[in-house]
Amino acid sequence: MAEATPQAATAARLERLRRRMAEENLEGLLVGSPANRRYLSGFTGSSGWLLITADRAELWTDFRYLEQAAAQAPGFEIVRHEPDVYRHLGRRIQELGLGRLGFERDHLTYAQWERLRGALPEKVEMVAVGGWIEELRRIKDPAEIAAIRQAARIADEALLEVLADLRPGVTEREVALQLEFAMRRRGAEGVSFDLIVASGPRSALPHGTASDRVIEAGDFVTIDYGALYGGYASDCTRTVVVGPAGERQRRIYDIVLEAQRRALAAVRPGATGAEVDRAARAVIEEAGYGDHFGHATGHGVGLEVHEGPRLAANGRDDVLAPGMVVTVEPGIYLPGWGGVRIEDLVVVTENGGEILTRVTKEFLQLAVS
Ligand code: GLY
Ligand code: MN
Ligand code: MN
Repeated sequence: MAEATPQAATAARLERLRRRMAEENLEGLLVGSPANRRYLSGFTGSSGWLLITADRAELWTDFRYLEQAAAQAPGFEIVRHEPDVYRHLGRRIQELGLGRLGFERDHLTYAQWERLRGALPEKVEMVAVGGWIEELRRIKDPAEIAAIRQAARIADEALLEVLADLRPGVTEREVALQLEFAMRRRGAEGVSFDLIVASGPRSALPHGTASDRVIEAGDFVTIDYGALYGGYASDCTRTVVVGPAGERQRRIYDIVLEAQRRALAAVRPGATGAEVDRAARAVIEEAGYGDHFGHATGHGVGLEVHEGPRLAANGRDDVLAPGMVVTVEPGIYLPGWGGVRIEDLVVVTENGGEILTRVTKEFLQLAVS
């Protein structure tokens, strides 16, 4: 069982959330999404609700999690809910006399909304709340950064181990399995997403999760992977060539690397996500491959592998600030031929960015025998 998030951290988070609730005249907020629930309470179980008011913090869960919840969320009163949690919550909300009740608009399903609405007295106003907790999560505290740093370190070491053995004849799936094993052996709780191992022409698939394709000499292999540590994700991509590379492979790699360097140099407090994206995209466009870089340059990483801020053309309002952890991951993808992506994880500091993923970005041509 994971340890509780230190109570001082969750108390500070609740305090900030309550300030926002007061500003928006919310008397209560229901939080059910796993990452937000964990962020606010420390509870890692798969099922539960937080009911937060100006002076109460309750964690509602079922029999399976009572002991765990009490250990992980000491700042919360643990409530064992009845089988129909909505009816039970409805009674409680009535008992507390809450008038305006917030719910997470991005996470509550329509069916859940209907059940909750049906269980609440008519006079209770249900207020859709979008992204408040996600906004708090953008800026990491030192313990969160330490967890991400450790996830990145585990991932770095595991990749070096796997690259040392990577030869033609193995399947992408075997490489992914070796990588997961190497990360777990080093203390990872798991992988931060389905690992991407995309070789040869499949490297043109930006999200080519590992398949049964056998890796051949001369292939590009794009490995996009991450570890989970203390609940926090890492995210890194390296593209290598198995055996001697062709001229075009080197050229495309150099363009992506230069785009990535420029974007990394643009990471600093006050820069917008759109500016960092532009820095990478300008290099790729100038080289004539703009149409082959169709995804964003990066994203925030934390309890979830994809969270705010956006480093994308539409990220004008995503202003970088110290404590944010973001990826920088431009790529070029040429259908039928292959592709290259290079991705680092960066923590925004007071005057720039510190790269957490340390595996070399030199153009690697792996030995084939
Ligand atoms: N693997 C997903 C990403 O790098 O964003
Ligand atoms: Mn990635
Ligand atoms: Mn990423």
